[in-house]
Amino acid sequence: MTGLKRPRVQVIGCGYVGLTTALAFASRGIAVTGIETDLKKRELISSGRLPFHEPGLEELLRKLLGNNFEVRDSQVESDVSFMSVGTPSKNDGGIELAFVESACQTLGELLKNLGGYHTVVVKSTVLPGSTERVVIPTIEARSQKRVGKDFGLCVNPEFLREGSALNDMMDADRIIIGEYDRKSGQVLLDLYGSFYEKSPPILRTNLVNAEFIKYASNAFLATKISFINTIANIAQRLPGGDVNIIAEGMGFDKRIGKSFLSSGLGYGGSCLPKDLRAFLSLARSVGYEAKLLSDIEYVNDSQVGLAIDEARKMIGGFDGKTVTVLGLSFKPDTDDLREAVSRRMIATLLEEGAHVNVYDPVVRSGLQIPSLDQARVVFAKSSIEALSGSDCCFLVTEWTEFKNLEPEDFVKHMRTPVLVDGRRLYDPAKFLGKMKGFSAVGLGSIQ
Ligand code: UGA
Repeated sequence: MTGLKRPRVQVIGCGYVGLTTALAFASRGIAVTGIETDLKKRELISSGRLPFHEPGLEELLRKLLGNNFEVRDSQVESDVSFMSVGTPSKNDGGIELAFVESACQTLGELLKNLGGYHTVVVKSTVLPGSTERVVIPTIEARSQKRVGKDFGLCVNPEFLREGSALNDMMDADRIIIGEYDRKSGQVLLDLYGSFYEKSPPILRTNLVNAEFIKYASNAFLATKISFINTIANIAQRLPGGDVNIIAEGMGFDKRIGKSFLSSGLGYGGSCLPKDLRAFLSLARSVGYEAKLLSDIEYVNDSQVGLAIDEARKMIGGFDGKTVTVLGLSFKPDTDDLREAVSRRMIATLLEEGAHVNVYDPVVRSGLQIPSLDQARVVFAKSSIEALSGSDCCFLVTEWTEFKNLEPEDFVKHMRTPVLVDGRRLYDPAKFLGKMKGFSAVGLGSIQ
């Protein structure tokens, strides 16, 4: 962007996507204001702390606060507005656009009194057609201005993973720009042009395709996971079969690739499950029954039950037993418990009469399981404490610190040393069936 005036940017919504986007742009010398209406979150951010766990981001926040970055409660005069508010699930599987609508109303009010050309960028994950149907009319009605003439509009989906959001932003695989008008597409192109020394591939398209690419990508990632879990479930029933070896062999094929072929308890989090449900409901609403997508969900929902069955084979029932759950967050390096498989697993174990010792390196409370019997769930302070006196252990989240556990730790501390490795974290040669009295099973291979 040499020679061009740097735009003033506001990022509406300071969740992990908004804050990562805001701080990444600010780190390149662009003046960015983060807009966060939640007082608690805003206070934390303005004191240099994150309202969530995200590696590397807090250090960057501290460096940039008051120096290219500030956080405010209401929208500010700016040239570009990124919208990154949440789009949670509705009961029918569709998405709730209330936060998007409210951000658009406020933005419309702001644009009403703003001179010059403003570019609105939708970063929130919205179903194909939503920008045309909701975002544009809401902003136009409030601002009394016309899209494409008085203000520009783009859909620019994010592909940031929780736990590695900053890295994903700095080293993006692609930039998707869905543009209503060429001019706003160019604004975004210039902004990213100034951001990346070596630009990732950029695709410019219309609004619907950009919205679609986000859902199709997450649905494809979910497909890979449910596919490899299907292979794991078959391999587990065949002597000598091992899904990890099978995935490694498959991954050499460039058309398949190595990533997202880790089998286990399945996917959770705030994105894949919600987006798949919404995508299914969209397909239905346009008259297509997307069976493939519902089967992906079915496979994913079954994995916890299959793991529990494996344990049942080894210890009989769970009634009155003490069970250890290692890892609560939906994946490592985040404290996010949304749709975490740990919650479904703990709920089932409690239903079957177990006492559950849980340990997670960052999650220390807030399981929010309906009908959770607090007295039967104990938050331990270490994995060893969680294993002490236990009859069975499920490895649920593959945090690095769990890699350091040795078979002896299970044998020495558990009452009956039984391990179900739900993420294939442990080396079968070292762990599985090797120690006297130790029963261990890694999902996706027979022991
Ligand atoms: C996902 C996408 O990966 C991002 O590209 C996207 O931007 C984001 O959703 C979003 O829509 O905002 P995220 O939910 O943070 O990111 O996490 P992933 O790394 O995709 O993992 C999702 C779940 O799949 C986790 O529970 C993880 O344990 C599981 N998983 C992942 C597997 O079971 N196997 C794998 O091989 C990979």
